Amino acid sequence: MTHSGQPKPLEARKSQSLTGRVRVPGDKSISHRALILGALAVGQTRITGLLEGEDVLNTAGAMRALGAEVERQADKNGASAWLVRGVGTAGFATPEAPLDFGNSGTGCRLVMGAVAGCSISATFDGDASLRSRPMRRILDPLELMGARVTAQSEGGRLPLTVQGARDPLPILYRTPVASAQIKSAVLLAGLSAPGVTTVIESEASRDHTELMLKHFGAQITSQHEGRHGRRIALTGQPELHGADVVVPADPSSAAFPIVAALIAEGSDIVLTDVMTNPLRTGLFTTLREMGASIEESGVRGDAGEPMAQLRVRASKLRGVEVPAERAPSMIDEYLVLAVAAAFAEGTTTMRGLQELRVKESDRLEATAAMLRVNGVRVEISGDDMIVEGRGHVPGGGLVATHMDHRIAMSALVMGCASDAPVRVDDTAFIATSFPDFIPMMGGLGADFA
Ligand code: S3P
Repeated sequence: MTHSGQPKPLEARKSQSLTGRVRVPGDKSISHRALILGALAVGQTRITGLLEGEDVLNTAGAMRALGAEVERQADKNGASAWLVRGVGTAGFATPEAPLDFGNSGTGCRLVMGAVAGCSISATFDGDASLRSRPMRRILDPLELMGARVTAQSEGGRLPLTVQGARDPLPILYRTPVASAQIKSAVLLAGLSAPGVTTVIESEASRDHTELMLKHFGAQITSQHEGRHGRRIALTGQPELHGADVVVPADPSSAAFPIVAALIAEGSDIVLTDVMTNPLRTGLFTTLREMGASIEESGVRGDAGEPMAQLRVRASKLRGVEVPAERAPSMIDEYLVLAVAAAFAEGTTTMRGLQELRVKESDRLEATAAMLRVNGVRVEISGDDMIVEGRGHVPGGGLVATHMDHRIAMSALVMGCASDAPVRVDDTAFIATSFPDFIPMMGGLGADFA
């Protein structure tokens, strides 16, 4: 599913206080993994709360193309359950056409890992944003495991074809950057290798793949390694059994109404079922350090993933320093943190942001441009971003979204409290991760038109 339609511009105006209670959509990372592991398991997997955004729907389509049965069932209240009948580890079939992952790096890279462990060949493609993103970081370990890759362009960019390994080798791999996508691709390929596949990361990245593999019956261990790292060891060739998966609400999507409520005077909102896995909550830690009122209650868990209700009230924020080692636990949240920082009093310095350059867009440059065009002083120094908060944002700018859902949502959040309205050139890509963002924010009191 690749966007080809007309751009959909939108303007956010200063809103009244935001109030209400909402559940943001299911976590994107967990949704991709539930579909992929369901497709590699024997028997039926039933997923509730799946994110029905374009990125995840593309992964569902890829699972069908690789031979799994994937079906959406709606109940009379409009809620849905997704049923996946898997093909078993290493059981994928060669797809008839190229797999199109649209805008999604996660779907594409995780499925590359799963395909690399099967004796089939598949071509991977995506939209202009995904075609510009680096794939070598994934292909290098998969080639060590025995996969072969043919790419039409330089530097391992899409479109490219992966010929999976007939006899995959278990490897010990140290990831060159803290990336859950690299780790997960190696582990998914390692499912079909005999013996133990080990991944060592020097900074721990999100561990949803490990938790879900365990939930599906794999033998996998995770130990601390060094100061902030992990050593993950997976025993290959397990029989994965279909399982029930409840997808909690996505903290990366919750980030947008949270920051909007913090900066829009008098706001008081509640977000339910928000996943609070500590490897994802760096933004909440940072916002609290800035003085944010975010109260957590009713903590519970499912399949190793904790979730809680969050009450967020408008708060006076102050600038802080965000250490580089926090980056993996909030890598998708710096854009909206930069918005919060602009409304804070004082300087916020965010360190170690090099990975932001290779996301759906160059998020370091795009975030700085989003702030500057709305009258905020911001500096990029090497891999750090420094935002001068002055307690208010002039606004009045037109923000270029660069095919990036999170830039569009961050800019609209900024417009909820800026002096003059903020316009974005295209909101179409919001559908990749948060299809109901505009009506949900409207329901809380945001003024988008
Ligand atoms: C994701 C990992 C992160 C993140 C992405 C989702 C995942 O990417 O930015 O949105 O689900 O594994 P990296 O692994 O490249 O840091």
